[in-house]
Amino acid sequence: MNLQDSHNDTTYRTAMGQLLVLYTQVDRLIMQACAERIATAPDEAAQLGLAKQVGDESRHVAIQNEWMQSFATDPTPVISAAQEAAILAHFRQLDWMDFLTDMYLCVEALGSDAVEKVVPLADPGTRESLRVPLQDELDHIAFGVDRLRHELAQLQAVERDAYLGRIPQRIEALNRMFQGMGLEVQALFEAVGTDYDMLCESLRERKSALLQQVARPLAA
Ligand SMILES: [Fe+2]
Ligand SMILES: [Fe+2]
Repeated sequence: MNLQDSHNDTTYRTAMGQLLVLYTQVDRLIMQACAERIATAPDEAAQLGLAKQVGDESRHVAIQNEWMQSFATDPTPVISAAQEAAILAHFRQLDWMDFLTDMYLCVEALGSDAVEKVVPLADPGTRESLRVPLQDELDHIAFGVDRLRHELAQLQAVERDAYLGRIPQRIEALNRMFQGMGLEVQALFEAVGTDYDMLCESLRERKSALLQQVARPLAA
């Protein structure tokens, strides 16, 4: 089946529809979690960064909602209301640095990496709907990585190294929480034509690149 035919296929449309619903739900959750953070952010630069992101995510939700209507996708939420509440509760109880790690390294950077893998396989309309959001996510990731480096630079070397050493476990824990939600993400990605092993390999590479980036001292 060529790519265009596969885009009319029910399996593709159902799976892509669910991925779109999921992506939109995650964007809405990010918007809420970041909005809640504004009041307690450590300085004005952080507040401005978060506020800009809240506006961006709101735009992403609007773009995706509009596209999903023409895609005639099943609007049933992929993440249940209870799961959404659990995700928000998780982000709410984090201190600032853990918030940066979980939100930007895990959700924004690794999440976008997965979405980027879908783009070349997607139908033209879906691809277009992801263009602006993915472009903005680059900004969000840069904000998170820069802020994390900034916070790490305030720590003593021993504390800094200890924190850096714990980041992989944080990513792993969040990944487990996500897997534990039983979302069948692998089946969805495969149904839209993604090679899941290659996707996981790409995520591993992205993770080590991010860790190196974060560990780089500010002066360098
Ligand atoms: Fe977004
Ligand atoms: Fe984002």
